[in-house]
Amino acid sequence: MKIAISGKGGVGKTILASLLSRIFAEAGYSVLAIDADPNSNLAATLGFPHPEEITPISEMRALIEERTGAPPGQAGGFFKLNPKVDDLPEKYYYEYNGIRLMVMGRIKKGGTGCYCPENTLLQALITHLLLERDEVVILDMEAGVEHLGRATARAVDKLIIVVEPGRQSVETAYRINKLARDIGLLNITIVGNKVRSQSEREFLTSSLQGFEFLGFIPYDQAIVEADVNNRPVLDASQKVINEVRKIYRALLQAA
Ligand SMILES: Nc1ncnc2c1ncn2[C@@H]1O[C@H](COP(=O)(O)OP(=O)(O)OP(=O)(O)O)[C@@H](O)[C@H]1O
Ligand SMILES: [Mg+2]
Repeated sequence: MKIAISGKGGVGKTILASLLSRIFAEAGYSVLAIDADPNSNLAATLGFPHPEEITPISEMRALIEERTGAPPGQAGGFFKLNPKVDDLPEKYYYEYNGIRLMVMGRIKKGGTGCYCPENTLLQALITHLLLERDEVVILDMEAGVEHLGRATARAVDKLIIVVEPGRQSVETAYRINKLARDIGLLNITIVGNKVRSQSEREFLTSSLQGFEFLGFIPYDQAIVEADVNNRPVLDASQKVINEVRKIYRALLQAA
């Protein structure tokens, strides 16, 4: 199963990606979590020791040059458009508590015009992970679908757009939905996070009519407190864990 998670900044993408990774891993699945958000924090949230020591693939200059034939940052030059990547998943991952993690790092934006070696390598790698790997892949992204393309869209079983009660994340959801549809990714679902009341839940369902909702996760102050006190946020709230378990079951049913 291949799951991609997107949504506005701060809505709870990384917490959802982390809890889902853990639940799949505990159920015996082989799980590969991919941090594709330039402000990576998946490693830290998953409790990996020394997350600050992880080098994102986008910063591995020698590797990028070796595989593409050009150093990173060189837009418009000559480099391989189909670099070899199939050996990278076995080399550049970190493992903790039965979850394997790959950190992609920052890719250069610039619309469709940005053909540079590091983007090409990351795109090829993500395409490989989504199309060729037989495991649960959970992709923690930013507020877009930059890492996906037409080739990978059909491999994504679900694009989860996380929203919180508030206009901004809803507007972002519409934008992401459009970007996803433009590349042919149609398996889109919504998860409402930080929901405090029935009326907040209704705000989300009425603002996002026509969308499928996979689940709702309650707001729990215990998560904020764990975060502030540098305790593991994943264990902080049984209420949140229970709802993510339901989301996990819904994903299995949909598959
Ligand atoms: N259900 C919840 N209840 C309370 N706090 C929450 C909840 N979900 C997430 N948070 C808090 O919201 C903040 C953002 O969560 P998280 O990092 O998972 O979001 P994100 O979408 O990955 O953010 P970013 O865009 O910065 O990567 C964190 O401080 C987290 O502790
Ligand atoms: Mg995040």
